[in-house]
Amino acid sequence: MKSIASAPGKVILFGEHFVVYGVKAILGSIDKRVTVTSSTSPEESITIKSTLGNLTIPISEPYEDNSPLKPFAFIAKKMIREFDKKSGLEITIKSDLLPGIGLGSSSACCVAAAASISNLFTKLSKEEVRKLATDAEKTIFKNTSGADCTVCTYGGIIEYDKKSGFKQLTTNSDFSLVIANSMTPHSTDVVANKVKEFREENPQVFSSLCNDESKLIAKVNSSLSKNNLNQLGQIMSENQNYLEKIGVANDKLRSMIRIAKETSFGAKITGAGGGGCIIALVDKSNSEQTISNLKSNNIECFSVKIDSKGLIQELIEE
Ligand code: MEV
Repeated sequence: MKSIASAPGKVILFGEHFVVYGVKAILGSIDKRVTVTSSTSPEESITIKSTLGNLTIPISEPYEDNSPLKPFAFIAKKMIREFDKKSGLEITIKSDLLPGIGLGSSSACCVAAAASISNLFTKLSKEEVRKLATDAEKTIFKNTSGADCTVCTYGGIIEYDKKSGFKQLTTNSDFSLVIANSMTPHSTDVVANKVKEFREENPQVFSSLCNDESKLIAKVNSSLSKNNLNQLGQIMSENQNYLEKIGVANDKLRSMIRIAKETSFGAKITGAGGGGCIIALVDKSNSEQTISNLKSNNIECFSVKIDSKGLIQELIEE
């Protein structure tokens, strides 16, 4: 039996970092995917093959190592334990997304792996897959808000609230996003810890920024449904000001945002910041110009659309 599952990467359109402290965030899944293929094997081991490296671990011993492949080992071991199976597993990960650039590679991996591996043992609902994926992601990023795994599971554009969950937003907008890569990988955990320190040292400033961010997010839904890209772009640029204040920008990201803003509706960091990517909001009228401006400044960039499918899974009898 072979189990294949794929999940989309994501962008945070509005509200990264603040979402960890209870502010709503708006996220979109993108048309770049991670695919995980799993099958049982006669060996009493779990073998994981991916561009991040390969790993083979015995099924009987605990896995404590701090490898980026830890979430896969977590899911595989949990399934083997719960279903009291003695057979081993072979897990292969293929990705359209580079890791560590804020496009949800890690969350998409966790979601696709949770679905692909669990399907060999049982049938989980989408919500159960999301929860399993979030627990797996916590093995490498303890304080995740859970937003990324949610959008990678359900797809489309979502409004996410750490306490009360998420709702899917509908839009008639035909926008796309230009993603520009600073080519500096980041660790979400490291950047999120810096924000935590900033909050501890500046509690009032942070609390007032959370209020401002909440007010901003409240405007997004109506701009999206009215297809008002100018307004959405302005909200993006305003959101960037708040990200500046909590210290997750740097000169490279600032310069990319400045160039992208010349032709797009608005631009900001997406994801943790400190490196990684920025997004610029565009449509047919300004997409090519934005890409060509960034490229002529030697900035690597590409355009993505919002994915509406979310998690896709299939079981193949061999
Ligand atoms: C990372 O993609 C987004 C953060 O807001 C962390 C989180 O929500 O878990 C920085």
